[in-house]
Amino acid sequence: MVLVMKVLGICGSPRKGANTEYALNFTLNELKTMGFETEAVLLSEKEVKFCNHCGKCLEGKECPIKDSAREIFEKMQLADAIIVASPVYYVGVSAQIKALFDRSLMIRGKLKGKVGGAIAVGQARNGGQEIVCEQIINWMLTHEMKIVPMRFGGMLVGSMKELEAVKRDEVGLNSCKNLAKKIAEALQK
Ligand SMILES: Cc1cc2nc3c(=O)[nH]c(=O)nc-3n(C[C@H](O)[C@H](O)[C@H](O)COP(=O)(O)O)c2cc1C
Repeated sequence: MVLVMKVLGICGSPRKGANTEYALNFTLNELKTMGFETEAVLLSEKEVKFCNHCGKCLEGKECPIKDSAREIFEKMQLADAIIVASPVYYVGVSAQIKALFDRSLMIRGKLKGKVGGAIAVGQARNGGQEIVCEQIINWMLTHEMKIVPMRFGGMLVGSMKELEAVKRDEVGLNSCKNLAKKIAEALQK
């Protein structure tokens, strides 16, 4: 039996069917074409509450907050690679992504060695995409994941008004192709 490696994508836009989702699906499709199994989790369809630092997970107990976080973290633990895609909000990740990052305290040590990649979509070409990718990568590094350097992408220009403006961003989409290629390489090592 041949085991197919799995790439999980997390979309942190609260807008369904918008630019960040498009960029993530574009990247996942590249990986699918290369033979990987892919899945996208849309935070626009989930509820992830804030970590309130109650300390239960640090004592080895279950997180008492009942929402979608546990289900998302189970998927992360089953994946070989994780791509986190966020819109640029005030030169930072969306609150949806930050909430998920903070709640991942409950799975510390469980993402070690997984391959990670970042995608950021802003309205401006230099609107803070690098800073968002850096935030995502820092979260991945804290979990001791293996990172695809941000110089390979994916950084794109979306729009506040148009849901699929990113379709016209050839440079950005090309950076997603590079990201997919580098993720595939890292998985095949
Ligand atoms: C609250 C808020 C803050 C934003 N801040 C920035 C920013 O700092 N830089 C930027 O380039 N775009 C910024 N934008 C624009 C979004 O990044 C852009 O519309 C992007 O396409 C949103 O992703 P989506 O289309 O997947 O929803 C902001 C949008 C919102 C709603």
